[in-house]
Amino acid sequence: MTEKANIVVIGTGGTIAGQGKAVINTSAYLCSVLGIDEILRTIPHASELANLRAEQLLQTGSENFNNEHLLAIGRRVSSLLAQDDVDGVVITHGTDTIEETAYFLHLTLKSAKPVVVVGSMRPPSAMSSDAALNLYDAIAVAAHPSSRGIGTLVVANDEIHTARDVVKSNSIKLEAFRSPYGALGHVIEGRPRYYRRPWRAHTLDTPWSIDTLGALPKVDIVYAYGALSPDAVEAIAAHARGLIYVGTGNGNVAEHLIEPLRDAARRGVHVVRASRTGNGIVLRNGAQPDDAYGWLTVEDQIPPKARILLTLALTQTDDMQALQVAFERY
Ligand code: DGL
Repeated sequence: MTEKANIVVIGTGGTIAGQGKAVINTSAYLCSVLGIDEILRTIPHASELANLRAEQLLQTGSENFNNEHLLAIGRRVSSLLAQDDVDGVVITHGTDTIEETAYFLHLTLKSAKPVVVVGSMRPPSAMSSDAALNLYDAIAVAAHPSSRGIGTLVVANDEIHTARDVVKSNSIKLEAFRSPYGALGHVIEGRPRYYRRPWRAHTLDTPWSIDTLGALPKVDIVYAYGALSPDAVEAIAAHARGLIYVGTGNGNVAEHLIEPLRDAARRGVHVVRASRTGNGIVLRNGAQPDDAYGWLTVEDQIPPKARILLTLALTQTDDMQALQVAFERY
């Protein structure tokens, strides 16, 4: 029998730490109330998968997470991964922004050890809650050697997703997580099975290290529609170093917003065209002449993750070409 892996489980809140008044409360309940020790006590059999250690880092809904929260989670995970007696880390997290935290870790951790972010759509107190099984599966994934070297993972509903691709795609159903190119694999009865690896660079192969990141530059997101006023775009652009413009279709920009966005670019704000569709790529120099206007495009990334990527890229460069390469590479 091989030795069990040492896994640290970090609690940050969310529905997986939630509690409803009655078992029928699958959707109306208090979030972020159970401590990580209490949650782990609901799955005593997880100790057969790994030696577990728990710590409570935060206790709040992930809708509140800002750049400081991301840095705090990343720094703590990094210091744990640096310890010889830690083989992997599981982070319990609200599902609302799980993909952003996971992607941030995927781009900034400098370790091949498995890191798994997990949440649930129903609190542990609800009928047919997914909390216990998702956490059990996440521990199984973090403890398994096949999970090394493939970046940060999100486990939910029996599936293993790469942090780069996974998106919360449903507000309420158990089957809430989707990756546009499919999951990497799945977990069945405590054993992960993989069928593909992430292609884009991550963790050890990115230029960003959580251990050296300081304050992060401000990047904001503007969600576009035909009636959006130029004032709104100008107000947001006035305080940002980067602006993800979530255009219609293939990143289209309404005629009356072209000049405000060009103005922002002339003033040194990095304007990135993204898409409201949630799928597909925004073609550079397709719907708009990006070269002429000094704009960037997201390639295939969704707006919240494009914000994370541009934020990190701006810690090292203001060069347009280098910034565009980041969207093609990560
Ligand atoms: N407060 C929400 C969050 O922490 C709850 C959503 C969830 O965890 O499913 O993201």
